[in-house]
Amino acid sequence: MKILIATEKPFAPVAVEGIKQVLVQAGHEPVLLERGSHEDLVAAVHDVAGLIVRSDKVGKDVFDAAPQLKVVVRAGAGYDNIDLAEATAHGVCVMNTPGQNANAVAELVMGMLVTLVRNRYDGTSGTELSGKTLGIHAYGAVGRNVARIARGFGMVVSALDPFVSDDVMEADGIKPVHSVEELYSANQIVSLHIPANEQTRRSVGKTLLMSLPSGAILVNAARKEVIDEQGLAEAMAERADLRYIADVKPDNADELADLYPTRVLFTPKKMGAQTAEANINAGLAAAKQVVDHLATGWNRFQVNK
Ligand code: 3PG
Repeated sequence: MKILIATEKPFAPVAVEGIKQVLVQAGHEPVLLERGSHEDLVAAVHDVAGLIVRSDKVGKDVFDAAPQLKVVVRAGAGYDNIDLAEATAHGVCVMNTPGQNANAVAELVMGMLVTLVRNRYDGTSGTELSGKTLGIHAYGAVGRNVARIARGFGMVVSALDPFVSDDVMEADGIKPVHSVEELYSANQIVSLHIPANEQTRRSVGKTLLMSLPSGAILVNAARKEVIDEQGLAEAMAERADLRYIADVKPDNADELADLYPTRVLFTPKKMGAQTAEANINAGLAAAKQVVDHLATGWNRFQVNK
């Protein structure tokens, strides 16, 4: 069967080779579409049974154009780019590959923090992360990796996650907190790892940002949509000590960078999961999940149940 690998942001070549090999060994025909437009994706799905994507948008137009499609695997964690209701309506199983790229995102969070607190290596004296308080907003796979590395830096780590028990956090050496108010008011650095959904869109705004302690930094390697960008702009204007790091640039990124060049740090394009290791882990997992689903109906990581 034809399996389309459609990634606007390409995987490392070594990962693409591995993905193709898994598919070919199972008797499938891989088709690669890299750096394509959404229109290219719609045009390419007419005869495919499986689809592997990253943050590429998969909506009604894609499902309508793909009558033979049985399974979509998002090679990564967040699946807010996929219209799950449309997938279900079209009888398509959607899965993600949880945890496979988490370390890469966590390493980027720590790297961007070091870059910011060392003043972008401009020769001036910066600050250290050791001894600083770090609040992890959602203790999933990425949050746990950030916590693990941050503890190695000597940071004092707390986390908020209603789906994770205190025992689990305490076993990891993390202090559990039970409200966003407590997480933001008690931590000098907060790192966001919440998904983008109806409950979280624009949920981090001016009130929480104003409650952060003096000299605070908010890090967003999660999703652009979870920030209230107007609230962020107002808090940045009212607090000269507040800094913002994002791997998912806000729409007002250029304006913020012009106004506060030393207080913001943005990647030009979402780079958290863009490592060979993460591409191999997530890409190969996605290929195996497609193969297993088409062979047996395997659906362990289905997200549109
Ligand atoms: C994810 O949800 O897995 C990350 O945000 C990475 O997304 P990407 O595959 O588009 O880089």
